[in-house]
Amino acid sequence: MQVIDIHNHFFPSSWPDLAARYSTPNWPWIKHTEPGKADIMVGDRFFRHICSACWDPDVRLQEMDRDGVDLQIISATPVLFAYERPVEHALDCAQLFNDAALELCSRGKSRLKSFCQVPLQDVDAACKELSRCMQAGHVGVQIGNHIGSKNLDDPGVVAFLHHCADEGAAVLVHPWEMFARDRMPKYMMPWTVGMPAETQLSVVALILSGALDRLPSSLRICFAHGGGSFAFLLGRLENAWHHQPVARGDCQHPPSHYLNRFYTDSAVFDQRALQFLVGTMGADQVMLGSDYPFPLGEERVGSLIRQSNLPQHTKAKLLSGNATRFLKLEAESPGAADKRGLGSSPIAPEPGQLTYSSYLRVPELLELQQPQSSPPHHDELLFILVHQTYELWFKELLHDLDAVVANLRRAGAASQSHDEVYEAARLLRRCTEISRVLVEQFTILETMLPTHFLAFRGLLEPASGFQSEQFREIEFLCGLKDEKMLRYHRPTPEAYASLKRRLEEPSLRDVFFGALQAMGMLPPAREGSTERERFEARARAVHALYKDEHHHRDWIDVCERLTEFDELVVSWRLRHIQLVERIIGIRMGTGGSAGASYLKLTLDKKFFPELWEARTLLTE
Ligand code: HEM
Repeated sequence: MQVIDIHNHFFPSSWPDLAARYSTPNWPWIKHTEPGKADIMVGDRFFRHICSACWDPDVRLQEMDRDGVDLQIISATPVLFAYERPVEHALDCAQLFNDAALELCSRGKSRLKSFCQVPLQDVDAACKELSRCMQAGHVGVQIGNHIGSKNLDDPGVVAFLHHCADEGAAVLVHPWEMFARDRMPKYMMPWTVGMPAETQLSVVALILSGALDRLPSSLRICFAHGGGSFAFLLGRLENAWHHQPVARGDCQHPPSHYLNRFYTDSAVFDQRALQFLVGTMGADQVMLGSDYPFPLGEERVGSLIRQSNLPQHTKAKLLSGNATRFLKLEAESPGAADKRGLGSSPIAPEPGQLTYSSYLRVPELLELQQPQSSPPHHDELLFILVHQTYELWFKELLHDLDAVVANLRRAGAASQSHDEVYEAARLLRRCTEISRVLVEQFTILETMLPTHFLAFRGLLEPASGFQSEQFREIEFLCGLKDEKMLRYHRPTPEAYASLKRRLEEPSLRDVFFGALQAMGMLPPAREGSTERERFEARARAVHALYKDEHHHRDWIDVCERLTEFDELVVSWRLRHIQLVERIIGIRMGTGGSAGASYLKLTLDKKFFPELWEARTLLTE
């Protein structure tokens, strides 16, 4: 794996006196103060202390070895952009530093590549210089995030970005010339407050203006410093987009739709921030960027990513894979896949196109296992994954059971149609197959020793299976409704509301008997009849179906599937109890119940008791 740092800076050790060259004051220059040290000056004003790593490739390479970095993409320092100057001066200055960058790279043993800079105040000159630089060996361009009062949605800048896409140049956007400087005279606030806000402004301008809708998806663009405050404030932006027409701008989709259209670097200096950034942007959109070798840069480049709790494959993406894609470093030659026997027409997805990972949200899925134990106990991952897998299957069960209800409802309304009954039986078969897997799956969790579970169990309280909203939804949907269970969902209003809805809606059991009634198999309940009498009438209706097999094969099939599903849910309950006893004995549950002895009381619960009762009624 080639570790690539896409955000770091260089500064040549000397260059012509720009103030004299253009006869204008306040150009940056370098004042060497002692061996290996210098100050960047802007006119008479001190700007920043720097060290020889800025200009000496040998020092850089040594420090890259120390930090385990294979490749750096160097870029100039924004103080050299000169966007406010006459274009001929800015162009000449850009050419000086672009050529100096290539000269430095030529001494970097193939481990240094460079982003050029362009006179962005003039789109034609900027495009021309970019083309010259790409020909000369730069891999892309670093641009400032604004030109005076113009943001990145300025038509000239958008035209330039289009040209970058055409030229295959990667774009790094760096904040500079921070706003409200008069309110941030102290404490490096332009860096700590201004830069993140500037970057946020640029990303938002690019999205809301609709520029990303118009720019080709082949544009590869990255925002420095973790994209500034963008990721953290995305929720706010999204909320405004949905609720305030005036906040929508001209983009076709909500802001979150565009996250796979740009990258950010990883320069956020905090583990929680990195986790959050990767969680928001996606593991494919964040790349190692260090701001090396400036004072606010990462001291040991890559350590934030390496020491994070991110999964190994995500770390590999951040350290290497994403930058390889961003820089198009390993564009596969046509026919290379053929040679490896991968088929005759290899399809390499363009950035933004659907891939296996993006369709299935694999990176996001693999971010969802966050152990409570620290350092993580080895078995906690299994504990989380097994529960998550159950919840995913519960989701599919609800999806299918809802469809069964809809089919049975339609079957009742048009009692001559067999299609709906057939479809209900087909989906119920899927439900039983899923349930079989769910019963079996407990064995995997039983490979966890009781002592290993106890090592992190205390951290889970008061979380408990009682709070599984989907499990309870399945119960309510099938007809096993117990209002008392709602109390476990009070802390989560959305879960509470959807369970309440399930409680009030007709259940699968209700709809099934509604259909039998519509078919004339079940007489309407007599006024004043008791619940027991109604129950017996329903059981007799099922009994009648079985007695007339010749006419009711399809309905009997539904009955058999429902019975089997009921049976499997009881098996699930039993296996769960065995697991509980095996792992925690007769201890209380984290949800406050008596544990296994409470769970044993649930074994008598049935979704479709009439189907069982009908069996007792049958005689030879
Ligand atoms: C180490 C493994 C497990 C232990 C020790 C355990 C323990 C318990 C206990 C004691 C309860 C009763 C409620 C309470 O007081 O907390 C319970 C309920 C529950 N558990 Fe588990 N459980 C385990 C694994 C699982 C798994 C893998 C699932 C899969 C989804 C699950 C789903 C549930 C559900 C849905 C309930 C509510 C059952 C009901 O109300 O009928 N449990 N669990």
